[in-house]
Amino acid sequence: MDIRNDADRLIEAPVVTSFSRMGFELRSRLDHWTSLDSVDLTDRVVVITGGTSGIGRAAAEQLARCGATLVVVGRAHDRNALVAAEIAEASGSDRISHHAADMGDYEQVRQLAERVLVDHTRLDVLIHNAGALSAVRHLAPDGTEATVASQVVGPFLLTTLLLERLVDTAGARVLTMSSGGMYTARLHIAGLEMGSADYRGSEQYARAKRAQVTLNELWAARFGSLGVTFHALHPGWVDTPGVDAALPRFAKAMGPFLRSPAQGADTLVWLAGDPEALGSNGLFWLDRRPRPIHKLARTRASDTPERRTHLWRWVAERAGVDPAIDR
Ligand SMILES: NC(=O)c1ccc[n+]([C@@H]2O[C@H](COP(=O)([O-])OP(=O)(O)OC[C@H]3O[C@@H](n4cnc5c(N)ncnc54)[C@H](OP(=O)(O)O)[C@@H]3O)[C@@H](O)[C@H]2O)c1
Repeated sequence: MDIRNDADRLIEAPVVTSFSRMGFELRSRLDHWTSLDSVDLTDRVVVITGGTSGIGRAAAEQLARCGATLVVVGRAHDRNALVAAEIAEASGSDRISHHAADMGDYEQVRQLAERVLVDHTRLDVLIHNAGALSAVRHLAPDGTEATVASQVVGPFLLTTLLLERLVDTAGARVLTMSSGGMYTARLHIAGLEMGSADYRGSEQYARAKRAQVTLNELWAARFGSLGVTFHALHPGWVDTPGVDAALPRFAKAMGPFLRSPAQGADTLVWLAGDPEALGSNGLFWLDRRPRPIHKLARTRASDTPERRTHLWRWVAERAGVDPAIDR
């Protein structure tokens, strides 16, 4: 194991080996990964946001193959229906439903939660995967900057509305797809939403992804004792429509080194089904191993208990909820 740990550290240090296809291929051999086809999710209910494209779609297909009862969430009803039908055909599953919700529209998030609660008496895995990097600044219906609304506030609201069902389901997991881009971002609360004067899509995205990883730890600390496991992860660099649209030059230059969507989805599906994921809580993963949430001294220095408390309060206020379990 020592040799494997040393080798893993060597791969992790340069971002290019770690995040690229190379990292995936080396680690999968080094750690003798089990096939995801051996993960059994029969009778487990899994909700996945952003299940219509890229990593989420590849994850949804593999989850369906593992037997999960799946709810695929994307913004457009027709696209959701088409993708759900394609996943059903590819996996042979007849347990796939879909629901249209923009994660930055809190009314739609509430409707999604209502639908899950009506349709399912259990919730084994809630996956917050929906995400995008937008070069142009947009606002969500409540006026919050859209990256923050859809990737920080909306997911927080959805977890809160489904928390009771998660607590009632033995071994439930909440998984959040962040990004290695968050390594560059300090923990900002006052600056979490960038204004129109200083907006830069990649910086806004990194700040939102940093907030996701921090909130993941806070959820685990607050509600892990009730039996719910919270993990965040990043997929490495993955060849998806999202990367093509947001970072076309990067996608072109890195083309052969990018991971496939299925490779980008591997750790997500593994965390959804493998018992090892239940042995810890609040961690940040890449390639089936926990990773540090800071690599730079300046981001570590920004991550204070006061800012964490402030972040939780700020997000709860925007979401209009106060997560609590009365028992
Ligand atoms: N690809 C990478 O290299 C990479 C690296 C780091 C992190 N990530 C993260 O991985 C996740 C998936 O990214 P991807 O590369 O697979 O992107 P993608 O191909 O563009 O897929 C994004 C998915 O998110 C959904 N989505 C986007 N905004 C949404 C919103 N406001 N409400 C609901 N659904 C929304 C999209 O659904 P509809 O368009 O159908 O609504 C789509 O299913 C994201 O969180 C991304 O930040 C990706």
